[in-house]
Amino acid sequence: MTGTATPTIDVHLTADDLRAALENDVRVGLTAEAKWLPPVWFYDDRGSALFDEITRLEEYYPTRAERALLEAHAAEIAARSGADTLVELGSGTSDKSRVLLDAFLAAGSLRRYVPLDVSDGTLWTAANELVREYPGLEVHAVVGDFDRHIGLIPSEGRRMVAFLGSTIGNFYPEHRRRFLFDLDCTMAHGDSFLLGTDLIKDEKKLIAAYDDAAGVTAEFNRNVLHVLNRELHADFRPERFQHVALWNEEEHRIEMRLRSLEDQRVPIADLDLEVSFPVGEDLLTEISTKFTREGVEAELFEAGFIVDAMWEAPEGEFLLTLATPYC
Ligand code: SAH
Ligand code: TRP
Repeated sequence: MTGTATPTIDVHLTADDLRAALENDVRVGLTAEAKWLPPVWFYDDRGSALFDEITRLEEYYPTRAERALLEAHAAEIAARSGADTLVELGSGTSDKSRVLLDAFLAAGSLRRYVPLDVSDGTLWTAANELVREYPGLEVHAVVGDFDRHIGLIPSEGRRMVAFLGSTIGNFYPEHRRRFLFDLDCTMAHGDSFLLGTDLIKDEKKLIAAYDDAAGVTAEFNRNVLHVLNRELHADFRPERFQHVALWNEEEHRIEMRLRSLEDQRVPIADLDLEVSFPVGEDLLTEISTKFTREGVEAELFEAGFIVDAMWEAPEGEFLLTLATPYC
């Protein structure tokens, strides 16, 4: 270990950009007929730490299932992709990524890891740990929004882009389509895309994963209200909102909501706005879409990708897909 290695960090999101986006999202989402907020605002430092706790919960099977798939197939993924650069979107703590890094390094091709995340503190910590753990690996972290900055990610080398954790399931269908299409546009011949998606399964098991007995997910959901209080001087009382996770059968997705436990008016000082929540009204904070193999293949194809291989966890718990752009 050299002890002197440092990661490179590109910052595409300044505090001003984030502030402007937050103000806009809150104004649009909380004045809409059906109130909603985009999930990106969950992930301040506390939110990222709570998510990390979620990934270790008994009820939250996706992380365990995806990690087991990576452990079983990372060597084959590395061989098939032949990448010298591993890009990861929404990398968080890069915990599972280490399984990929180990396999790619063992295959001998990997030179560079490019994690991208909106949560700068978590990304910074992860990048610094990784340069220490993997001497010789170039770590080029990008603080950015995967909706707006995939075109700005370093493009040298033969790349594999990983998008794990079923984060793609947190997008609405039209958003997913646009994201996949944009991603395909940034990819060159020989690049590949590794996608982790959760699969449709028993409703009870799905709901438990988003409404755990210890209440960690409830706290994660309410964290967005703490973020609004701090950043926009809002006056939400998080305890006056109940965490609700329900299965939307038609859209095959879990919907995370915050349900108002009383009639309340919430001032948001920095926006000069007061929002009323009648008792029982829901604020939709997150969706987590569940997929089928055929659905994943069709959506990828529509966006310009051909599926190279799919690996499914036992009992259809989770799916990993390796795809390549077809032109
Ligand atoms: N890949 C990890 C973390 C998944 S949680 C895993 O599989 O466990 C989702 C991650 O995406 C978080 O780290 C969050 O900070 C990040 N994220 C959420 N919205 C984002 C956005 N719009 N742009 C970039 N990163 C985002
Ligand atoms: N991508 C994760 C998922 O859909 C994100 C997530 C897990 C999540 N638990 C959550 C988002 C609870 C909001 C609330 O499974």
